[in-house]
Amino acid sequence: MQASPFSLEIIVLAAGQGRRMASNLPKVLHTLAGRPLLAHVLDTAAALGPRAIHVVYGHGGEQVREAFLDVEVDWVLQPSQKGTGDAVRCALPRLDDHSLALVLLGDVPLLKRGTLKTLCERAAGGAALLTFEAAHDNQYGRIVRDARGRVARIVEWRDATPEERLIREVNSGVLAAPVAHLRRWIPRLTATNAQGELYLTDVVALAVANGVAVAAVSPTRVTEVEGVNSRLDLALLERAYQDECAQALMLSGAQLMDPRRIDVRGTITTGRDVLIDVNCVFEGHVEIGDDVRIGPHCVLRDSRIASGARIEAHSVIDGAEVGSGCVVGPFARLRPGTVLGARARVGNFVEVKASQVGANSKINHLSYIGDATVGTGVNVGAGVITCNYDGAHKHRTVIGDRAFIGSDTQLVAPVEVGADATVGAGTTLTKDAPAGELTISRVAQKTVNGWRRPKK
Ligand code: UD1
Ligand code: CA
Repeated sequence: MQASPFSLEIIVLAAGQGRRMASNLPKVLHTLAGRPLLAHVLDTAAALGPRAIHVVYGHGGEQVREAFLDVEVDWVLQPSQKGTGDAVRCALPRLDDHSLALVLLGDVPLLKRGTLKTLCERAAGGAALLTFEAAHDNQYGRIVRDARGRVARIVEWRDATPEERLIREVNSGVLAAPVAHLRRWIPRLTATNAQGELYLTDVVALAVANGVAVAAVSPTRVTEVEGVNSRLDLALLERAYQDECAQALMLSGAQLMDPRRIDVRGTITTGRDVLIDVNCVFEGHVEIGDDVRIGPHCVLRDSRIASGARIEAHSVIDGAEVGSGCVVGPFARLRPGTVLGARARVGNFVEVKASQVGANSKINHLSYIGDATVGTGVNVGAGVITCNYDGAHKHRTVIGDRAFIGSDTQLVAPVEVGADATVGAGTTLTKDAPAGELTISRVAQKTVNGWRRPKK
Protein backbone atom coordinates (compact mmCIF):
# COMPACT_ATOMS: atom_id res chain seq x y z
CA MET A 1 0.00 0.00 0.00
CA GLN A 2 1.31 3.39 -0.99
CA ALA A 3 0.06 6.68 0.42
CA SER A 4 -1.14 9.21 -2.15
CA PRO A 5 0.53 12.61 -2.39
CA PHE A 6 -2.93 14.05 -1.63
CA SER A 7 -5.56 12.96 0.84
CA LEU A 8 -8.04 10.80 -1.04
CA GLU A 9 -11.71 9.99 -0.36
CA ILE A 10 -13.04 7.10 -2.43
CA ILE A 11 -16.76 6.82 -3.10
CA VAL A 12 -17.96 3.50 -4.51
CA LEU A 13 -21.43 3.60 -6.06
CA ALA A 14 -23.15 0.29 -5.41
CA ALA A 15 -26.82 1.09 -4.83
CA GLY A 16 -28.11 0.09 -8.26
CA GLN A 17 -30.22 -3.05 -8.28
CA GLY A 18 -28.87 -4.52 -11.50
CA ARG A 19 -32.19 -5.52 -13.02
CA ARG A 20 -30.58 -6.93 -16.13
CA MET A 21 -28.82 -9.66 -14.13
CA ALA A 22 -32.27 -11.25 -13.61
CA SER A 23 -31.09 -12.40 -10.19
CA ASN A 24 -32.12 -12.32 -6.54
CA LEU A 25 -28.53 -11.56 -5.61
CA PRO A 26 -27.48 -7.87 -5.57
CA LYS A 27 -25.33 -7.25 -8.64
CA VAL A 28 -22.12 -6.37 -6.78
CA LEU A 29 -22.23 -9.74 -4.99
CA HIS A 30 -22.02 -11.68 -8.24
CA THR A 31 -18.56 -13.17 -8.44
CA LEU A 32 -15.66 -12.68 -10.78
CA ALA A 33 -12.74 -15.08 -10.26
CA GLY A 34 -14.58 -16.46 -7.25
CA ARG A 35 -14.97 -13.13 -5.42
CA PRO A 36 -17.76 -10.55 -5.40
CA LEU A 37 -17.42 -7.73 -7.93
CA LEU A 38 -17.36 -5.27 -5.05
CA ALA A 39 -14.43 -7.11 -3.42
CA HIS A 40 -12.32 -6.42 -6.51
CA VAL A 41 -13.24 -2.74 -6.43
CA LEU A 42 -12.53 -2.46 -2.69
CA ASP A 43 -9.11 -4.11 -3.14
CA THR A 44 -8.15 -1.62 -5.83
CA ALA A 45 -9.52 1.25 -3.73
CA ALA A 46 -7.57 0.18 -0.65
CA ALA A 47 -4.39 -0.10 -2.70
CA LEU A 48 -4.61 3.64 -3.41
CA GLY A 49 -4.20 4.36 0.32
CA PRO A 50 -7.31 6.55 0.74
CA ARG A 51 -8.38 8.39 3.87
CA ALA A 52 -11.63 6.43 3.70
CA ILE A 53 -13.69 4.27 1.35
CA HIS A 54 -17.39 5.19 1.31
CA VAL A 55 -19.67 2.59 -0.22
CA VAL A 56 -23.07 3.89 -1.28
CA TYR A 57 -25.61 1.08 -0.96
CA GLY A 58 -29.37 1.00 -1.49
CA HIS A 59 -32.45 -0.34 0.17
CA GLY A 60 -32.24 -4.11 0.51
CA GLY A 61 -28.47 -3.73 0.33
CA GLU A 62 -28.11 -5.18 3.84
CA GLN A 63 -27.07 -8.37 2.08
CA VAL A 64 -24.17 -6.44 0.58
CA ARG A 65 -23.08 -5.09 3.96
CA GLU A 66 -23.24 -8.54 5.49
CA ALA A 67 -20.96 -9.92 2.82
CA PHE A 68 -18.28 -7.41 3.82
CA LEU A 69 -18.43 -7.43 7.61
CA ASP A 70 -14.68 -7.91 7.86
CA VAL A 71 -13.77 -5.02 5.56
CA GLU A 72 -13.27 -1.54 6.92
CA VAL A 73 -15.46 0.76 4.86
CA ASP A 74 -17.90 3.57 5.57
CA TRP A 75 -21.37 2.41 4.50
CA VAL A 76 -23.57 5.19 3.16
CA LEU A 77 -27.25 4.49 2.64
CA GLN A 78 -28.88 6.01 -0.44
CA PRO A 79 -32.55 5.71 0.56
CA SER A 80 -33.90 5.75 -2.98
CA GLN A 81 -32.01 5.51 -6.22
CA LYS A 82 -32.38 8.92 -7.75
CA GLY A 83 -29.25 8.76 -9.86
CA THR A 84 -25.48 8.80 -9.61
CA GLY A 85 -25.47 12.49 -8.60
CA ASP A 86 -27.81 11.71 -5.72
CA ALA A 87 -25.62 8.78 -4.69
CA VAL A 88 -22.56 11.05 -4.40
CA ARG A 89 -24.70 13.66 -2.60
CA CYS A 90 -25.44 11.06 0.10
CA ALA A 91 -21.72 10.59 0.75
CA LEU A 92 -20.79 14.31 0.70
CA PRO A 93 -21.28 14.97 4.46
CA ARG A 94 -18.71 12.25 5.23
CA LEU A 95 -15.95 13.76 3.09
CA ASP A 96 -13.02 15.84 4.22
CA ASP A 97 -13.03 19.31 2.58
CA HIS A 98 -9.36 19.31 1.69
CA SER A 99 -9.33 15.92 0.00
CA LEU A 100 -9.71 14.72 -3.52
CA ALA A 101 -12.79 12.59 -4.20
CA LEU A 102 -12.56 9.59 -6.51
CA VAL A 103 -15.85 8.04 -7.65
CA LEU A 104 -15.73 4.34 -8.57
CA LEU A 105 -18.54 2.01 -9.61
CA GLY A 106 -19.18 -1.19 -7.68
CA ASP A 107 -19.87 -3.08 -10.90
CA VAL A 108 -16.63 -2.14 -12.70
CA PRO A 109 -14.21 -4.68 -11.24
CA LEU A 110 -11.05 -4.64 -13.35
CA LEU A 111 -9.77 -1.09 -12.98
CA LYS A 112 -6.03 -0.85 -12.42
CA ARG A 113 -4.45 1.12 -9.64
CA GLY A 114 -2.02 2.82 -12.04
CA THR A 115 -4.85 4.16 -14.19
CA LEU A 116 -6.59 5.58 -11.13
CA LYS A 117 -3.38 7.16 -9.83
CA THR A 118 -2.99 8.98 -13.12
CA LEU A 119 -6.63 10.07 -12.98
CA CYS A 120 -6.20 11.47 -9.46
CA GLU A 121 -3.02 13.30 -10.36
CA ARG A 122 -4.78 14.95 -13.30
CA ALA A 123 -7.83 15.82 -11.14
CA ALA A 124 -5.84 17.75 -8.59
CA GLY A 125 -5.95 20.72 -10.99
CA GLY A 126 -9.76 20.66 -11.32
CA ALA A 127 -11.51 17.47 -12.32
CA ALA A 128 -10.71 14.41 -14.40
CA LEU A 129 -12.77 11.78 -16.15
CA LEU A 130 -11.86 8.29 -17.24
CA THR A 131 -13.04 8.06 -20.84
CA PHE A 132 -12.52 5.59 -23.65
CA GLU A 133 -13.33 4.93 -27.27
CA ALA A 134 -16.21 2.50 -27.53
CA ALA A 135 -17.56 0.63 -30.51
CA HIS A 136 -20.89 1.92 -31.79
CA ASP A 137 -24.11 0.52 -30.43
CA ASN A 138 -23.59 1.22 -26.74
CA GLN A 139 -25.47 3.36 -24.27
CA TYR A 140 -22.61 5.04 -22.46
CA GLY A 141 -22.69 8.78 -21.83
CA ARG A 142 -21.03 10.73 -24.68
CA ILE A 143 -18.11 13.11 -24.08
CA VAL A 144 -18.89 16.38 -25.85
CA ARG A 145 -15.84 18.52 -26.60
CA ASP A 146 -15.73 22.18 -27.64
CA ALA A 147 -14.28 23.59 -30.86
CA ARG A 148 -10.83 23.62 -29.27
CA GLY A 149 -11.12 19.97 -28.25
CA ARG A 150 -11.64 20.61 -24.55
CA VAL A 151 -14.15 18.54 -22.58
CA ALA A 152 -17.35 20.60 -22.42
CA ARG A 153 -20.02 18.28 -20.99
CA ILE A 154 -21.32 14.74 -20.88
CA VAL A 155 -24.61 13.88 -22.52
CA GLU A 156 -26.32 10.66 -21.45
CA TRP A 157 -27.24 8.35 -24.29
CA ARG A 158 -30.95 8.70 -23.61
CA ASP A 159 -30.72 12.49 -23.74
CA ALA A 160 -28.39 12.64 -26.73
CA THR A 161 -29.28 13.79 -30.24
CA PRO A 162 -28.60 11.38 -33.11
CA GLU A 163 -25.43 13.38 -33.91
CA GLU A 164 -24.24 13.20 -30.29
CA ARG A 165 -24.84 9.46 -30.27
CA LEU A 166 -22.24 9.16 -33.04
CA ILE A 167 -19.50 10.38 -30.68
CA ARG A 168 -17.07 7.53 -30.02
CA GLU A 169 -15.51 8.91 -26.83
CA VAL A 170 -17.63 7.79 -23.89
CA ASN A 171 -17.78 8.13 -20.12
CA SER A 172 -16.59 5.22 -17.97
CA GLY A 173 -18.49 6.67 -15.00
CA VAL A 174 -15.25 7.04 -13.03
CA LEU A 175 -14.39 10.58 -12.07
CA ALA A 176 -12.13 12.47 -9.68
CA ALA A 177 -12.48 16.02 -8.37
CA PRO A 178 -11.59 17.99 -5.25
CA VAL A 179 -14.23 17.58 -2.54
CA ALA A 180 -14.54 21.36 -2.25
CA HIS A 181 -15.64 21.56 -5.91
CA LEU A 182 -18.13 18.72 -5.55
CA ARG A 183 -19.70 20.53 -2.61
CA ARG A 184 -20.41 23.47 -4.91
CA TRP A 185 -21.55 21.50 -7.96
CA ILE A 186 -23.63 18.62 -6.54
CA PRO A 187 -26.34 20.84 -4.93
CA ARG A 188 -26.86 22.48 -8.33
CA LEU A 189 -27.73 19.26 -10.18
CA THR A 190 -31.29 19.01 -11.46
CA ALA A 191 -33.36 16.07 -12.64
CA THR A 192 -34.57 17.70 -15.85
CA ASN A 193 -33.50 14.85 -18.11
CA ALA A 194 -34.87 11.77 -19.83
CA GLN A 195 -34.53 9.59 -16.71
CA GLY A 196 -35.65 12.20 -14.16
CA GLU A 197 -32.47 11.51 -12.18
CA LEU A 198 -29.67 13.56 -10.70
CA TYR A 199 -26.79 12.83 -13.07
CA LEU A 200 -23.30 13.00 -11.59
CA THR A 201 -22.15 13.54 -15.15
CA ASP A 202 -23.73 17.01 -15.17
CA VAL A 203 -20.95 18.28 -12.87
CA VAL A 204 -18.75 18.42 -15.96
CA ALA A 205 -20.74 21.25 -17.54
CA LEU A 206 -20.90 23.01 -14.15
CA ALA A 207 -17.12 22.75 -13.80
CA VAL A 208 -16.57 24.20 -17.24
CA ALA A 209 -19.01 27.03 -16.49
CA ASN A 210 -16.95 27.74 -13.35
CA GLY A 211 -13.80 27.92 -15.47
CA VAL A 212 -12.47 24.64 -14.06
CA ALA A 213 -10.67 22.50 -16.62
CA VAL A 214 -11.82 18.89 -16.93
CA ALA A 215 -9.15 16.44 -18.03
CA ALA A 216 -9.85 13.14 -19.77
CA VAL A 217 -7.67 10.13 -19.01
CA SER A 218 -7.87 6.81 -20.82
CA PRO A 219 -7.27 3.35 -19.39
CA THR A 220 -4.58 0.98 -20.67
CA ARG A 221 -7.18 -1.54 -21.79
CA VAL A 222 -10.89 -1.13 -22.40
CA THR A 223 -11.72 -4.10 -20.14
CA GLU A 224 -10.54 -1.97 -17.21
CA VAL A 225 -13.56 0.30 -17.51
CA GLU A 226 -16.12 -2.22 -18.68
CA GLY A 227 -18.98 -2.65 -16.25
CA VAL A 228 -21.19 -5.61 -15.51
CA ASN A 229 -24.80 -5.06 -16.46
CA SER A 230 -25.74 -8.58 -17.52
CA ARG A 231 -24.49 -12.11 -17.04
CA LEU A 232 -23.07 -11.81 -20.54
CA ASP A 233 -20.85 -8.93 -19.46
CA LEU A 234 -19.83 -10.89 -16.39
CA ALA A 235 -18.72 -13.89 -18.44
CA LEU A 236 -16.74 -11.67 -20.83
CA LEU A 237 -14.94 -9.90 -17.98
CA GLU A 238 -14.22 -13.23 -16.29
CA ARG A 239 -12.43 -14.31 -19.48
CA ALA A 240 -10.54 -11.02 -19.67
CA TYR A 241 -9.41 -11.49 -16.07
CA GLN A 242 -8.40 -15.11 -16.66
CA ASP A 243 -6.43 -14.12 -19.77
CA GLU A 244 -4.39 -11.76 -17.64
CA CYS A 245 -3.79 -14.43 -14.98
CA ALA A 246 -2.69 -16.90 -17.65
CA GLN A 247 -0.28 -14.37 -19.13
CA ALA A 248 1.22 -13.59 -15.74
CA LEU A 249 1.69 -17.31 -15.04
CA MET A 250 3.43 -17.90 -18.33
CA LEU A 251 5.70 -14.90 -17.80
CA SER A 252 6.70 -16.33 -14.43
CA GLY A 253 7.78 -19.62 -16.00
CA ALA A 254 4.72 -21.87 -16.11
CA GLN A 255 3.76 -23.66 -19.30
CA LEU A 256 0.01 -23.72 -19.88
CA MET A 257 -1.11 -26.29 -22.41
CA ASP A 258 -3.91 -23.88 -23.35
CA PRO A 259 -3.93 -20.43 -21.74
CA ARG A 260 -7.65 -20.15 -22.51
CA ARG A 261 -8.45 -23.21 -20.45
CA ILE A 262 -7.33 -22.34 -16.93
CA ASP A 263 -9.25 -20.66 -14.11
CA VAL A 264 -7.58 -18.92 -11.21
CA ARG A 265 -10.02 -17.94 -8.48
CA GLY A 266 -7.58 -16.67 -5.92
CA THR A 267 -3.81 -16.47 -6.00
CA ILE A 268 -1.28 -18.88 -7.39
CA THR A 269 2.50 -18.87 -7.32
CA THR A 270 4.50 -21.16 -9.56
CA GLY A 271 8.15 -22.13 -9.65
CA ARG A 272 10.13 -22.67 -12.84
CA ASP A 273 9.18 -25.21 -15.48
CA VAL A 274 5.75 -25.97 -14.09
CA LEU A 275 3.44 -27.58 -16.60
CA ILE A 276 -0.31 -27.18 -16.27
CA ASP A 277 -2.56 -29.16 -18.58
CA VAL A 278 -6.02 -28.01 -19.68
CA ASN A 279 -9.09 -27.25 -17.58
CA CYS A 280 -7.49 -26.91 -14.17
CA VAL A 281 -9.12 -24.70 -11.54
CA PHE A 282 -7.13 -23.02 -8.77
CA GLU A 283 -8.92 -21.61 -5.75
CA GLY A 284 -7.78 -19.79 -2.62
CA HIS A 285 -4.01 -19.66 -2.32
CA VAL A 286 -2.05 -22.31 -4.18
CA GLU A 287 1.75 -22.59 -4.20
CA ILE A 288 3.44 -24.75 -6.79
CA GLY A 289 7.14 -25.55 -6.72
CA ASP A 290 9.63 -26.07 -9.56
CA ASP A 291 9.12 -28.84 -12.13
CA VAL A 292 5.61 -29.75 -10.98
CA ARG A 293 3.30 -31.23 -13.60
CA ILE A 294 -0.42 -30.97 -13.23
CA GLY A 295 -2.58 -33.14 -15.44
CA PRO A 296 -5.84 -32.10 -17.07
CA HIS A 297 -9.08 -31.44 -15.14
CA CYS A 298 -7.61 -30.96 -11.67
CA VAL A 299 -8.97 -28.72 -8.93
CA LEU A 300 -6.46 -27.32 -6.42
CA ARG A 301 -7.53 -25.21 -3.47
CA ASP A 302 -5.44 -23.72 -0.65
CA SER A 303 -2.63 -26.20 -1.15
CA ARG A 304 1.13 -26.44 -1.56
CA ILE A 305 2.73 -28.73 -4.11
CA ALA A 306 6.48 -29.18 -3.63
CA SER A 307 9.01 -29.42 -6.43
CA GLY A 308 8.93 -32.30 -8.85
CA ALA A 309 5.53 -33.59 -7.77
CA ARG A 310 3.08 -34.90 -10.36
CA ILE A 311 -0.64 -34.44 -10.04
CA GLU A 312 -2.37 -36.72 -12.52
CA ALA A 313 -5.66 -36.07 -14.31
CA HIS A 314 -8.94 -35.51 -12.47
CA SER A 315 -7.50 -35.04 -9.01
CA VAL A 316 -9.01 -32.75 -6.38
CA ILE A 317 -6.57 -31.32 -3.83
CA ASP A 318 -7.96 -29.20 -1.02
CA GLY A 319 -6.04 -27.88 1.97
CA ALA A 320 -3.18 -30.30 1.43
CA GLU A 321 0.59 -30.30 1.34
CA VAL A 322 2.13 -32.52 -1.28
CA GLY A 323 5.82 -33.29 -0.79
CA SER A 324 8.51 -33.18 -3.43
CA GLY A 325 8.45 -35.94 -6.01
CA CYS A 326 5.02 -37.24 -4.96
CA VAL A 327 2.67 -38.75 -7.52
CA VAL A 328 -1.02 -38.11 -6.88
CA GLY A 329 -3.89 -39.44 -8.96
CA PRO A 330 -5.34 -39.89 -11.47
CA PHE A 331 -8.71 -39.54 -9.72
CA ALA A 332 -7.32 -38.89 -6.24
CA ARG A 333 -8.90 -36.70 -3.59
CA LEU A 334 -6.81 -35.02 -0.90
CA ARG A 335 -8.87 -33.26 1.73
CA PRO A 336 -7.86 -30.63 4.32
CA GLY A 337 -5.10 -31.61 6.69
CA THR A 338 -3.41 -34.05 4.33
CA VAL A 339 0.38 -33.89 4.37
CA LEU A 340 2.25 -36.17 2.00
CA GLY A 341 5.97 -36.73 2.60
CA ALA A 342 8.49 -36.75 -0.23
CA ARG A 343 7.89 -39.26 -3.01
CA ALA A 344 4.68 -40.62 -1.49
CA ARG A 345 2.14 -42.03 -3.94
CA VAL A 346 -1.60 -41.70 -3.75
CA GLY A 347 -3.32 -43.41 -6.64
CA ASN A 348 -6.72 -43.72 -8.25
CA PHE A 349 -9.91 -43.48 -6.20
CA VAL A 350 -8.01 -42.85 -3.00
CA GLU A 351 -9.31 -40.30 -0.50
CA VAL A 352 -7.02 -38.94 2.21
CA LYS A 353 -8.20 -36.61 5.00
CA ALA A 354 -6.42 -35.07 8.02
CA SER A 355 -3.57 -37.55 7.71
CA GLN A 356 0.19 -37.49 7.50
CA VAL A 357 1.68 -39.92 5.04
CA GLY A 358 5.44 -40.47 5.39
CA ALA A 359 8.04 -40.35 2.65
CA ASN A 360 8.01 -43.15 0.08
CA SER A 361 4.71 -44.61 1.30
CA LYS A 362 2.19 -45.87 -1.24
CA ILE A 363 -1.60 -45.89 -1.17
CA ASN A 364 -2.24 -46.74 -4.75
CA HIS A 365 -5.80 -47.98 -5.16
CA LEU A 366 -9.35 -47.45 -3.89
CA SER A 367 -8.66 -46.55 -0.24
CA TYR A 368 -9.89 -44.18 2.46
CA ILE A 369 -7.27 -42.90 4.86
CA GLY A 370 -8.74 -40.49 7.42
CA ASP A 371 -7.31 -39.21 10.73
CA ALA A 372 -4.25 -41.36 10.28
CA THR A 373 -0.53 -41.13 10.80
CA VAL A 374 1.20 -43.29 8.24
CA GLY A 375 4.96 -43.78 8.61
CA THR A 376 7.60 -43.93 5.90
CA GLY A 377 7.93 -46.69 3.35
CA VAL A 378 4.48 -48.09 4.17
CA ASN A 379 2.57 -50.09 1.57
CA VAL A 380 -1.18 -49.80 1.81
CA GLY A 381 -2.93 -52.35 -0.40
CA ALA A 382 -6.04 -51.87 -2.50
CA GLY A 383 -9.34 -51.12 -0.81
CA VAL A 384 -7.97 -50.38 2.66
CA ILE A 385 -10.28 -48.37 4.91
CA THR A 386 -9.53 -46.56 8.14
CA CYS A 387 -12.79 -46.82 10.09
CA ASN A 388 -12.24 -43.50 11.87
CA TYR A 389 -15.79 -42.67 12.91
CA ASP A 390 -17.91 -44.53 15.45
CA GLY A 391 -20.97 -42.42 14.81
CA ALA A 392 -20.04 -39.90 17.50
CA HIS A 393 -16.28 -39.39 17.56
CA LYS A 394 -13.32 -39.55 15.21
CA HIS A 395 -10.40 -41.78 16.17
CA ARG A 396 -6.84 -42.02 14.89
CA THR A 397 -5.07 -44.81 13.14
CA VAL A 398 -1.30 -45.04 13.46
CA ILE A 399 0.73 -47.12 11.04
CA GLY A 400 4.45 -47.60 11.71
CA ASP A 401 7.31 -47.32 9.24
CA ARG A 402 7.61 -50.02 6.59
CA ALA A 403 4.35 -51.71 7.60
CA PHE A 404 2.48 -53.67 4.92
CA ILE A 405 -1.30 -53.45 5.01
CA GLY A 406 -2.92 -56.17 2.90
CA SER A 407 -5.74 -55.36 0.52
CA ASP A 408 -9.27 -54.95 1.81
CA THR A 409 -8.18 -54.40 5.40
CA GLN A 410 -10.37 -52.36 7.73
CA LEU A 411 -8.47 -50.58 10.47
CA VAL A 412 -11.04 -49.93 13.22
CA ALA A 413 -9.68 -46.85 15.01
CA PRO A 414 -8.29 -46.16 17.49
CA VAL A 415 -5.76 -48.75 16.42
CA GLU A 416 -2.04 -48.97 15.83
CA VAL A 417 0.08 -51.04 13.51
CA GLY A 418 3.71 -51.37 14.59
CA ALA A 419 6.77 -50.79 12.42
CA ASP A 420 7.54 -53.57 9.92
CA ALA A 421 4.24 -55.28 10.79
CA THR A 422 2.28 -57.15 8.13
CA VAL A 423 -1.51 -57.19 8.18
CA GLY A 424 -3.00 -59.98 6.08
CA ALA A 425 -5.45 -59.19 3.30
CA GLY A 426 -9.08 -59.00 4.36
CA THR A 427 -8.29 -58.37 8.02
CA THR A 428 -10.65 -56.40 10.23
CA LEU A 429 -8.16 -54.98 12.69
CA THR A 430 -9.77 -54.11 16.02
CA LYS A 431 -6.68 -54.50 18.23
CA ASP A 432 -3.14 -53.21 17.72
CA ALA A 433 -0.91 -55.22 15.39
CA PRO A 434 2.54 -55.73 16.95
CA ALA A 435 5.69 -54.59 15.20
CA GLY A 436 7.43 -57.04 12.89
CA GLU A 437 4.69 -59.72 13.13
CA LEU A 438 1.98 -60.98 10.77
CA THR A 439 -1.50 -60.23 12.06
CA ILE A 440 -4.51 -61.62 10.28
CA SER A 441 -8.19 -61.93 11.22
CA ARG A 442 -9.34 -63.80 8.18
CA VAL A 443 -11.67 -66.81 8.67
CA ALA A 444 -9.78 -69.98 7.71
CA GLN A 445 -10.54 -71.17 4.21
CA LYS A 446 -12.34 -74.50 3.79
CA THR A 447 -13.63 -76.59 0.92
CA VAL A 448 -16.92 -78.48 1.40
CA ASN A 449 -16.48 -81.77 -0.37
CA GLY A 450 -19.42 -83.13 -2.36
CA TRP A 451 -21.48 -79.91 -2.04
CA ARG A 452 -23.97 -79.48 -4.87
CA ARG A 453 -25.51 -76.26 -6.14
CA PRO A 454 -29.33 -76.25 -5.74
CA LYS A 455 -31.21 -76.90 -8.99
CA LYS A 456 -34.64 -75.69 -10.10
C1 UD1 B 1 -23.50 5.90 -15.87
C2 UD1 B 1 -23.12 7.28 -16.40
C3 UD1 B 1 -22.74 7.17 -17.86
C4 UD1 B 1 -21.62 6.16 -18.04
C5 UD1 B 1 -22.00 4.84 -17.41
C6 UD1 B 1 -20.81 3.92 -17.40
C7 UD1 B 1 -24.47 8.84 -15.12
C8 UD1 B 1 -25.66 9.69 -15.13
N1 UD1 B 1 -24.22 8.16 -16.24
O1 UD1 B 1 -24.65 5.50 -16.59
O2 UD1 B 1 -22.33 8.43 -18.37
O3 UD1 B 1 -21.33 6.01 -19.40
O4 UD1 B 1 -22.41 5.01 -16.04
O5 UD1 B 1 -21.21 2.65 -16.95
O6 UD1 B 1 -23.75 8.81 -14.14
N2 UD1 B 1 -25.92 3.96 -8.75
C9 UD1 B 1 -26.20 4.26 -7.44
N3 UD1 B 1 -27.31 4.99 -7.14
C10 UD1 B 1 -28.16 5.45 -8.09
C11 UD1 B 1 -27.87 5.14 -9.44
C12 UD1 B 1 -26.74 4.40 -9.74
O7 UD1 B 1 -25.47 3.87 -6.53
O8 UD1 B 1 -29.14 6.10 -7.75
C13 UD1 B 1 -24.72 3.19 -9.06
C14 UD1 B 1 -25.02 1.86 -9.72
O9 UD1 B 1 -25.07 0.84 -8.76
C15 UD1 B 1 -23.84 1.67 -10.65
C16 UD1 B 1 -23.38 3.07 -10.97
O10 UD1 B 1 -23.96 3.92 -10.00
O11 UD1 B 1 -22.76 1.01 -10.02
C17 UD1 B 1 -23.79 3.51 -12.35
O12 UD1 B 1 -25.20 3.46 -12.44
P1 UD1 B 1 -25.94 3.02 -13.76
O13 UD1 B 1 -27.39 3.10 -13.53
O14 UD1 B 1 -25.38 1.75 -14.23
O15 UD1 B 1 -25.51 4.22 -14.70
P2 UD1 B 1 -25.58 4.22 -16.24
O16 UD1 B 1 -26.95 4.59 -16.65
O17 UD1 B 1 -24.98 3.01 -16.77
CA1 CA C 1 -24.06 0.84 -15.79
